Order: sequence, then structure tokens, then C-alpha cells
Amino acid sequence: MNIKSLIEDADAIIFDLDGVLVNTAVFHFAAWQRLAETFGFEFSESDNEHLKGISRMDSLDIILTWANVQATPKERLAFAEQKNIWYLEFIEKMTEDQLLPGSIELLNYLRQSGKKIALGSASKNAKMILNKTGINEYFDAIIDGNSVTNSKPDPEVFLLGARQLNILPNKCLVFEDAQAGIQAAINAGMKVIAVDRAQLLTSYDARVEGLTEIQYS
Ligand code: G6P
Ligand code: MG
Repeated sequence: MNIKSLIEDADAIIFDLDGVLVNTAVFHFAAWQRLAETFGFEFSESDNEHLKGISRMDSLDIILTWANVQATPKERLAFAEQKNIWYLEFIEKMTEDQLLPGSIELLNYLRQSGKKIALGSASKNAKMILNKTGINEYFDAIIDGNSVTNSKPDPEVFLLGARQLNILPNKCLVFEDAQAGIQAAINAGMKVIAVDRAQLLTSYDARVEGLTEIQYS
């Protein structure tokens, strides 16, 4: 199915944030890499692909396993907090320049077309990022890492978005850049467009390399 028909058929669009609307995936990578270095573990960009869409604590646990590091619950919290401090050093300097190309055009088009718009992100920093980049007023509902207990691929984040918008899941369309997020959308009974520059993702309804690819006329 083509992207324009997928959008036309939907009553609501639910966006993942990191890697779809904003260019924060690089900041997550840099902060995890810095933490991994303290364990003597070389954390590569391809390792980072597996962590996209995965919550902070779950990501940490994966890195600890890869690095073969044992940690107490208290140490785990301290590691996650340290990673977030390093991550926030980047986020604090964010402006609309870190919006991915095509984000504003798509948000404006959806608003003009009368679609409901929600955010469905695993990030606990989502609201700060929306404020820094100036796109918070586009969203009718914001579901982030503070609103859910189950991480993607669990559908909770998207189902909660649909419920807050008062739209049935099968009338929602999700934009995602992570395999865990694509699976979460499928588990929620929603259609999903993969934003996938590296052609690593599977099981989507349509794929774009970036949001600028979408044709509106
Ligand atoms: C997104 C990113 C993940 C990140 C997660 C939690 O899903 O793709 O890389 O770990 O959010 O982000 P946070 O800002 O709460 O650490
Ligand atoms: Mg993402």
C-alpha cells in the first residue's frame, strides 16, 4: 500500500520520536558508548541498532550482558542515571535544527488534513525534546516512557495513545524507526510505516528512508 493511502485511511497518526521526528539516536549512541567504555566494552553502531526503541533500563541490562558485567540494583540505577546525564548534555543544546528533514511538513499536512496526532515514545525525556524543538503543540496526546509500564514491542504505548485520542487501533497509523516499535504497532493492530535509512527493518506496511520522501500532491 502506498504511503498517501495509508495516511488517508487513518484517523490518527502516532509518532515514535527518536529517529523519526528528531535526530536523537546519535546522542543515545554517544552516551551509551561512553558508559560502555567505562566497562571496557567496545559498543558499536550496529550494537546500538538493537537498542532503538528499547527503554533506558532494558537497554542498560542488554549492555551489561554484552559487557559481561554484574551489577547490583543500586549500581544499575546509577549507571542508567549517568548515561542520562551524558545524554541530557546533548538534549539541553537541542533546537529545531535537530528535527529530521520533512518532520514539520508532515505534521502540518496531518493537521491540515484533520488527523489526530499522538506521540508514542519509550523516552522519559520526550516532553523536553518536544519543547526544545518547538513541536509540542502539534500533539493531541503524548505517551512517553513515564506513562507506560511495558516497553515496546509491548503495544501498551500505542494502545494508550489510541485510547487518549478516542480512535480505534485499526484506524491508527504508526511511524517507527525501530524493529521493537514496528512489532509494538503490529501487536496493537495498527498499520506501520518504517523510517529506515539503512534498510534493516522488516514487517512494515510501507517504508521510507526519510520523511521528505512523502509526496503530498
Ligand atoms: C527511545 C530510543 C531508545 C531509548 C529510549 C528511552 O525509544 O530509541 O534508544 O533508550 O527511547 O529513552 P530515555 O530518554 O528515557 O533514556
Ligand atoms: Mg525511535
